[in-house]
Amino acid sequence: METKNSIKHLAIIMDGNGRWAKAKGLARSKGHEAGAKTIKDITKYCVNHTNIKTLTLYAFSTENWKRPKSEVDFLMRLLERYLKKELQTYHENKICFDVIGDISKFSTKLQKLIQKIKDQTKEYDGLTQILALNYGARDEIVRAVKKLNATASEISEESIAQALDTPYGELDLLIRTGGERRLSNFLLWQLSYSELYFSNTPWPDFGINELQSIIDDFEHRKRNFGGLR
Ligand code: FPP
Repeated sequence: METKNSIKHLAIIMDGNGRWAKAKGLARSKGHEAGAKTIKDITKYCVNHTNIKTLTLYAFSTENWKRPKSEVDFLMRLLERYLKKELQTYHENKICFDVIGDISKFSTKLQKLIQKIKDQTKEYDGLTQILALNYGARDEIVRAVKKLNATASEISEESIAQALDTPYGELDLLIRTGGERRLSNFLLWQLSYSELYFSNTPWPDFGINELQSIIDDFEHRKRNFGGLR
């Protein structure tokens, strides 16, 4: 009898905001605003899903600083607005908020806000929503190895995994929206045995129906983790 895969940890590369806006004759910032709304819808879906415990979203990469300053500034302001507004959603839905990445490059004000929300939601177990902020997988691995080096720890798969920003167990499924088929320096260590799904839908148009059908597909995929099944 076929056993269904159970999805506990879902990660998403939210791509296509800019192209979505351009196709509508709008400024790129409008695409990011629409993308923030999609985050809310998808997070709510995950809260209500029986098996999903962790949702990791790629919100700002270590490479995104190369964008024009005006766009970077806009994304920072949008993040601040989003977090202030969503704090209520985190409380109402018992969402634990967490961050991966090196946020020491963010403004002190934003870092304080992030810390405040992490502190206020750390006991919640409805869903853990992780935003990847100033995140790059190579940077994460370098920081982890430095940490181990500084404490003269043994180097093993377990110790490296523990020293990474993401002690959240296996990552089951990665979705990238927006039509590109690459990983863009996201969770390279954690993705070793994850299932990958690439959607052509730009992030602002990505909805719960498509997510549901991707999860249905995932549940029936053969996962053998290098062994036989
Ligand atoms: C990719 O679109 C999107 C990002 C730069 C990261 C995701 C950002 C959001 C969803 C905005 C809101 C985020 C928060 C946390 C409030 P793109 O600009 O690369 O699109 P393109 O490839 O079409 O240009």
